[in-house]
Amino acid sequence: MKFFIDTANLGDIREAYDLGVLDGVTTNPSLMAKEGISGDEKVKAHYKAICDIVDNNVSAEVISTDFDNMIKEGKELAKLDDKIVVKIPMIKDGVKALKYFSSEGIRTNCTLVFSAGQALLAAKAGASYVSPFIGRLDDISFDGMELIEQIVHIYGNYGYETEVLAASVRHSMHLLKCAEVGADVVTCPLKVITSLLNHPLTDSGLATFLADHAKAAGK
Ligand code: E4P
Repeated sequence: MKFFIDTANLGDIREAYDLGVLDGVTTNPSLMAKEGISGDEKVKAHYKAICDIVDNNVSAEVISTDFDNMIKEGKELAKLDDKIVVKIPMIKDGVKALKYFSSEGIRTNCTLVFSAGQALLAAKAGASYVSPFIGRLDDISFDGMELIEQIVHIYGNYGYETEVLAASVRHSMHLLKCAEVGADVVTCPLKVITSLLNHPLTDSGLATFLADHAKAAGK
């Protein structure tokens, strides 16, 4: 399973990359705004800075919602770096844009997916990634994980190449369950990745090993 970090914060991206387990980055307009990044040139420069840190897979979201402007914007984003994946919302013109970019060999991530029907459309349109949002479904009392399972199952039935990118992953149990049901990718904040490190038996075991070593060495 690939690990993407869901942030536009360069420090967090660097930290996750330095851990050696990072396969990519997802951003969205809210995450860019959180970092105070706005205006065409600044946004592009920020995507470029992210691309300079990681090896591949940097999702950059279009702001336009009509086909012509999504294509224009997506092409400009894709031109920034080979690592860019153009992120397109699951709307009618978005589906058309997914088809267009797929025929042009430009990678896409279809975002804001909340149903299996939407995921099926994204796959048929040739999306490279589909992003179902687990946490936001959980927030409204729907089981987000059930949707991941359903999409993995449907894509498996037909051999779709679209990768299931589980998004809105809020905690380590989300991430682990995604691994169990076979999501191809999870995207989550840095703290979810680092929370996988934690186990009290690791901490107490290490403390004992170090204490025993010191005792034997006569310290
Ligand atoms: C996905 O690409 C989105 O950026 C993201 O995962 C949304 O997560 P949230 O629901 O925690 O904002």
